[in-house]
Amino acid sequence: MEWRKDDYLITDDKSKVQLGTVQRLLAATYWGGRRPVEIVERMVAGSICFSLYHGTTQIGFGRAVTDSTTFTWVADIVIEPGYRGTGLGQWFMECLVAHPAIEGTQMVLQTRDAQGLYEKFGFSGNSALMSTKVTDS
Ligand SMILES: CC(C)(COP(=O)(O)OP(=O)(O)OC[C@H]1O[C@@H](n2cnc3c(N)ncnc32)[C@H](O)[C@@H]1OP(=O)(O)O)[C@@H](O)C(=O)NCCC(=O)NCCS
Repeated sequence: MEWRKDDYLITDDKSKVQLGTVQRLLAATYWGGRRPVEIVERMVAGSICFSLYHGTTQIGFGRAVTDSTTFTWVADIVIEPGYRGTGLGQWFMECLVAHPAIEGTQMVLQTRDAQGLYEKFGFSGNSALMSTKVTDS
């Protein structure tokens, strides 16, 4: 799957994940600082990955672990600092929740301070755990 908007691209193609960039983006977060590139590589292999590009430069990453039926864990959503606050995070989440393997599943995530972003997508809860409503399945 891929989505385009102006000069930006979001793709779920794992071959396009720039492991060094993802490691650097995560290293600057409050949770992802201790992940060597080998761990990032294994993490990517076991997840549906979303990579955000401006031209050829990767400027964002996020991933989901799902059974593609009932349940999805959303994790490691991060946008390059210089690109934040312009709507890219919201577009990123729009694409993630619309992915055919994720759409309709109950989604769960943890975030310390970005609740406002995820509430726009039906998540509720607190900094310990946020989730969307359980689906019929
Ligand atoms: C969280 C993050 C991905 C948001 O990306 P972004 O491109 O800055 O987000 P947007 O510009 O699309 O913002 C979309 C909406 O979410 C809200 N939002 C974004 N970050 C927020 C935060 N930290 N706290 C509360 N609301 C937030 C914005 O206020 C905006 O709402 P509005 O349009 O009503 O003003 C980005 O700030 C980031 O990478 N932060 C560091 C990593 C992180 O904390 N990730 C989340 C933990 S899972």
